[in-house]
Amino acid sequence: VNNFAERKLYLSVQINQKSPIGVFDSGLGGLTAVRELKRILPGEDIIYFGDTGRVPYGTRSPEIITKYALDDMNFLTSFGVKAVLCACGTVSSIAIEVLRKNFDMPVIGVVESAARKACKKTKNGKVALLATPATVKNRAYERECAKLRSDVSVIGIGCPMFVPLVENGYIKNDCTVTKLIADEYLSKLKEFSPDVIILGCTHYPLIRNIIEQRARELFGDVHIVDSGAQAAKAVKSFLDENDLTNLNTSKKTAKFYVSDETHNFVSSASLFLGEEISGVEKIDISKFCYNKTL
Ligand code: DGL
Repeated sequence: VNNFAERKLYLSVQINQKSPIGVFDSGLGGLTAVRELKRILPGEDIIYFGDTGRVPYGTRSPEIITKYALDDMNFLTSFGVKAVLCACGTVSSIAIEVLRKNFDMPVIGVVESAARKACKKTKNGKVALLATPATVKNRAYERECAKLRSDVSVIGIGCPMFVPLVENGYIKNDCTVTKLIADEYLSKLKEFSPDVIILGCTHYPLIRNIIEQRARELFGDVHIVDSGAQAAKAVKSFLDENDLTNLNTSKKTAKFYVSDETHNFVSSASLFLGEEISGVEKIDISKFCYNKTL
């Protein structure tokens, strides 16, 4: 159902515990949330969209990021999903309110839950944010942390090289080039010496081991917050509170859609999720262009 008014009507009639959860990201990153969703909500069917034809988002302007995010939502909501997990740190920082305004649907982003976890964990009040340049510039994490604890300072480091590395499969623990780049970014935090690091872009947990190892060498005992996994927990709370959790765990499906060739996605996704994923489908996202006036 592609027409906005029709879909709204369709949704209000159709949503129930058996409806799938929609998850989207610019590419592979949202899988870090899917992995956690599958672990803590084994009864849910998942529809995933990775906008691999337009990745990266995090180096683009807020206008373009918002436009892409609206198209992504438009695609996902055509499946009658009961909630959408916006598993993209960049979209969550920049466009979440626009998405909530334009779609009659619960949209859960990654910023609130990750900021909450960081504020809970930090002892020295120094929280580092590793994220895309767009997320760092937007300062959503600073605002969210300030609401929770006035003694916490957040320093954001834009890490534009991480997303292409992940998307191109440079995710093995011994990958020399990823280690070098991680070193470059983390060394900027030497003086600050955080005790919590938020992986504010959902792509980064795919290279978590590399980031964590180098961070420990530099800062000692440091707690890593995985923003995608935290958001998955927020989805569970939301479904439980609204009696929307599917408790029937038999025959669950996760269906994956991408907007470019499926090959890279399949191999990296299988590696990361620890299971073979099949039936990844390429779609034409331009057909879901969101035209409603904002
Ligand atoms: N995974 C996304 C994020 O969490 C987007 C990365 C990108 O496309 O630049 O920010």
